[in-house]
Amino acid sequence: MAGPAHAVARNPLTLLTLADLRQRSSVKWRLHPPDVLPLWVAEQDAPLAPAVADALRRAIDLGDTGYPHGTGYAEALAEFAARRWDWPDLRVAHTTVVPDVMIGIVEVLRLVTDPGDAVVVCSPVYPPFYAFVSHAGRRVIEAPLGPDLRIEPAALDEAFRRARAAGRRPVFLLCNPHNPTGVVHRRDELEAVAELAARHGVRVISDEIHAPVVLAGARFTPYLTVAGAEDAFALTSASKAWNLAGLKAALAIAGPRAAADLARMPEEVGHGPSHLGVIAHTAAFRDGGEWLDGLLAGLDGNRALLASLLAEHLPAVRYHRPEGTYLAWLDCTALGVATEAPDGEPGIASDLAGPAKMFLDRARVALSSGHVFGTGGAGCVRLNFATSPEILTEAVTRMGRAVDTARPPAG
Ligand SMILES: Cc1ncc(COP(=O)(O)O)c(C=O)c1O
Repeated sequence: MAGPAHAVARNPLTLLTLADLRQRSSVKWRLHPPDVLPLWVAEQDAPLAPAVADALRRAIDLGDTGYPHGTGYAEALAEFAARRWDWPDLRVAHTTVVPDVMIGIVEVLRLVTDPGDAVVVCSPVYPPFYAFVSHAGRRVIEAPLGPDLRIEPAALDEAFRRARAAGRRPVFLLCNPHNPTGVVHRRDELEAVAELAARHGVRVISDEIHAPVVLAGARFTPYLTVAGAEDAFALTSASKAWNLAGLKAALAIAGPRAAADLARMPEEVGHGPSHLGVIAHTAAFRDGGEWLDGLLAGLDGNRALLASLLAEHLPAVRYHRPEGTYLAWLDCTALGVATEAPDGEPGIASDLAGPAKMFLDRARVALSSGHVFGTGGAGCVRLNFATSPEILTEAVTRMGRAVDTARPPAG
């Protein structure tokens, strides 16, 4: 659409109706019946960024659907990192393409740990951290976040000590920014992580998939730019910011003292990403900046809207205002919903208990259940606000009504 050159980027979260979205066949829209508003899995309710759609269309028109080649994806990321994060020296030679972020994490774990070694995570955290690590034969040790939902150095110190005692080559799997709390770790916090990791001989793998989605007031710090992080790894992709989970391709990046380890990545791992995925993620980082700015403005608006909706409809719920991601972590313990989690491990992302089950049953709103995020998660829910203000308003209104009708009448 034509407009003045200085036009503010449009909010892409207002462009699709609920009827449009219900035609999607992805898990967000198909797991639950059509009367449910899905605000759970981290998919966005926006159309594709035009730069990404154009690149994909060009490839389809050309029949350019063979195998990927070259370092264009890493070059696009390096340029984006220099522009957005003041990271001028992301070395393309120290990167490798992997199928997606979680497979990349597992493959890096295979390079630097042995079966049975410990992987420390800061709970509550993205449920697949548990599932993928244990499926890879490594053992999760939790270092719970503090009451302010930030990394607690004392807890990390203790977890690193236990991890060291448990096996030869421990790792800390950092979530930067943190899912589900939306905390964007500050440089001083990350320096403290690097200092502790060095002291205990723990290697760090930083999952930076949410890095482009940092909202007004916060600033993303790439872990590999932190003093003392030279032997660490980062994993990233355009998947969360540009909604490309269905187009698999991610990047593993090694710090200067980890490059030799990354060079041992088996060649076949690089056969996993799809060529269309590489094309899409490259276009996003190279040409999707203006679209991203529109998204970030829309998310910032939704973050404020969510605060006022919760104050009006669910005043007992504690909202930890996220600094990044499009995920809001809502502490619902004051609602008094029984929170016993079903038996079993954290990590089953669609498993429901406590408040999330109540909101699905009574409000027909699907959220992620806190208990699957590990210790500290029970009694909380994670709400994905990458949706239109209308859907967000309807969802929280319904949630408030569900709580009101569940409450016994006063007097
Ligand atoms: C922290 C984090 N890591 C990894 C992923 C998944 O990434 P991928 O699909 O590339 O494995 C997600 C998805 O929401 C995430 O939030």
